[in-house]
Amino acid sequence: MKTIRASIIGFGAVGQGVAEVLLQKDENLKNIGLDIKVVAVADSKGAAIDPNGVDLSKVLIKKRTEGTVGSEKLTGLEVITNIDHELVIETTPTDIDTGGVGLPNMLAAFEHGRDVVTSNKGPLALKYRELAEIAKENGSNFKFEATVGGAMPIINLIRDVLAGNDIISIEGILNGTCNYILTRMMEEQASYEQMLAESQELGIAETDPTYDVEGIDAACKLVILANSIFDMDATYKNVDVTGITKITPESLMLAQDDGFVVKLIGEVKKDLIRVGPRLVPVGHPLAVGGTLNVASVQTDLAGTVTITGRGAGSIETASAIISDVISIYR
Ligand code: HSE
Repeated sequence: MKTIRASIIGFGAVGQGVAEVLLQKDENLKNIGLDIKVVAVADSKGAAIDPNGVDLSKVLIKKRTEGTVGSEKLTGLEVITNIDHELVIETTPTDIDTGGVGLPNMLAAFEHGRDVVTSNKGPLALKYRELAEIAKENGSNFKFEATVGGAMPIINLIRDVLAGNDIISIEGILNGTCNYILTRMMEEQASYEQMLAESQELGIAETDPTYDVEGIDAACKLVILANSIFDMDATYKNVDVTGITKITPESLMLAQDDGFVVKLIGEVKKDLIRVGPRLVPVGHPLAVGGTLNVASVQTDLAGTVTITGRGAGSIETASAIISDVISIYR
């Protein structure tokens, strides 16, 4: 049995999802020889620390009843710096303007030789190359499947399963909020504002939903794909972006009359990263509805491979994180 000491830094929906999945899958993990022992959990107000393993059930209850994980006055960065452990699960909120606390957290983790598995898009959309280089210099693993498409396994699919293929392009829907709004606007002939409010109630929109509807969230995910798959050195400011705010129910109906749906499609290939509304024929593999994400990967050997799945959600995102953790230590 391999024991991996881990911290969970950031205990919002995704961090809590990771804790729930670790509890639920403890036996499955042990069956494959992995004992993931969480020695610290930190949120923005405090931390719970126990070198023998934090009781995740108690931490989940404390968070839900008292609004914080524990009474230790340590920040996430101090946990990463001062507590002995191998793996940092970084699930602090995305801040794509500065990288937020996620950026110094990841840098500190690598400087201390720790591995990082993250769902936090901000640091990767701004400083991917720097992070990847520091991880490499320190012999750390750096995995971030959860940053793009939630539970939809796009990065590891390309890197592992499609290894040996040259990737020609990736295109698809990488923002569930926009897909939900467009799908429901067409079904209900309802206004954009009404459907935006509905998608916020579902809990999948960013804290500031402007990032979703202006196409910036999708742009960040494309940048992560561009940098990690196409070896570019892009930030989201390099992406040609149009959002969905100007789309009317009438234009969606006109498209439907001609056999099309309107989708916010992102595309990345050599020297091109763009996101904007496009007409997609009804029945086309990219014409998935609701909150789903989808990606078509065009390759030289395998042809086109298309996957679809849930691009957001606490347990869904935790699925991608656990899969990254297992892939490092198995
Ligand atoms: N706001 C994002 C979306 C969440 O709607 O897809 C997942 O990154």
